[in-house]
Amino acid sequence: MMKDEIAWFRDHHVENMERMFAAVSDLYAEYWNDFFHFAIFEDDLEDWDTAFEQTHRRYLDALQIGERSKVVELACGRGGFADFVAANSGAEVLGIDISRSQLSHAQRHKRPNLRFLHHDIMRVDELEERFDAVILMDADCYLPDKRAAVDRIARAMKPGARFLLIAWCKREGLNGLQEELVLHPFMRYWGIPSLETPAGYRQHFHTAGLRLIEEADLNHKTRRNWDFGYERAIAGIRDFSVAKAARLLWKGLPLGRDGIRLIKEQFPAALYIKAGFDTGFLRYTYLLGEKD
Ligand SMILES: C[S@@+](CC[C@H](N)C(=O)[O-])C[C@H]1O[C@@H](n2cnc3c(N)ncnc32)[C@H](O)[C@@H]1O
Repeated sequence: MMKDEIAWFRDHHVENMERMFAAVSDLYAEYWNDFFHFAIFEDDLEDWDTAFEQTHRRYLDALQIGERSKVVELACGRGGFADFVAANSGAEVLGIDISRSQLSHAQRHKRPNLRFLHHDIMRVDELEERFDAVILMDADCYLPDKRAAVDRIARAMKPGARFLLIAWCKREGLNGLQEELVLHPFMRYWGIPSLETPAGYRQHFHTAGLRLIEEADLNHKTRRNWDFGYERAIAGIRDFSVAKAARLLWKGLPLGRDGIRLIKEQFPAALYIKAGFDTGFLRYTYLLGEKD
């Protein structure tokens, strides 16, 4: 049953993502504002705002964006990081996302050098434009075919362009039972068709003509994020009600009872995410590539 559901996510990724984020966007924004990705902490005393600011500066520096660069943030979500790039680089920034609910919030960010577009990463190479820098954070796990996605992303890049991928990977060498007990429930509750390994991405970069210039496993420095997600899930369940869930649903897409189910499933998802990182089966991985 679980395997069938996971296969459905792969075969219906457009519908799956539209529905999922129409249900959960406002729920997550209560805790994560406009950043649905992890902050990197350099020490235990650092506060959240500083950690996010430093994380974003680090990503911006890595991309080597110039004043006239064309930048695309793939799966830009509510547009928080695209807005940061536009504000701090002077580059022309495009954010694309497959969820109209997420984009309805992204559109609140207004700058002359910032645009948003409803578009699927799996068709990014069909955009007329070519880019100097590409960012994809905390969304690779939803893609139905990771190799094809990296290939299409590389085609949308100019020679010398950089690609920053912040990926939710699975550890190499897990056995079937380990995946079944910890990763499959998480994937089922989060609408994830498959998880790639860091080695898998290295291979996809190579095949797509991207030279890997930096790779880092960030689990150690991001622990506070999944602990926070778990604590918020525990606190949230104490004052949870169907009426509250109904208020959080995006009104632009009728989800029926499925909307409430998708919100309810965020509770077990947070437990399995914590289990996934605490066991070390999930790896929060930074990969920086450059097109030859
Ligand atoms: C966890 S959120 C991360 C959003 C954003 N990157 C951030 O860090 O705040 C995942 C996002 O990926 C988007 N997404 C998933 N699959 C996509 C696809 N094939 N094309 C474009 N966006 C996609 C979802 O709609 C959602 O907004």
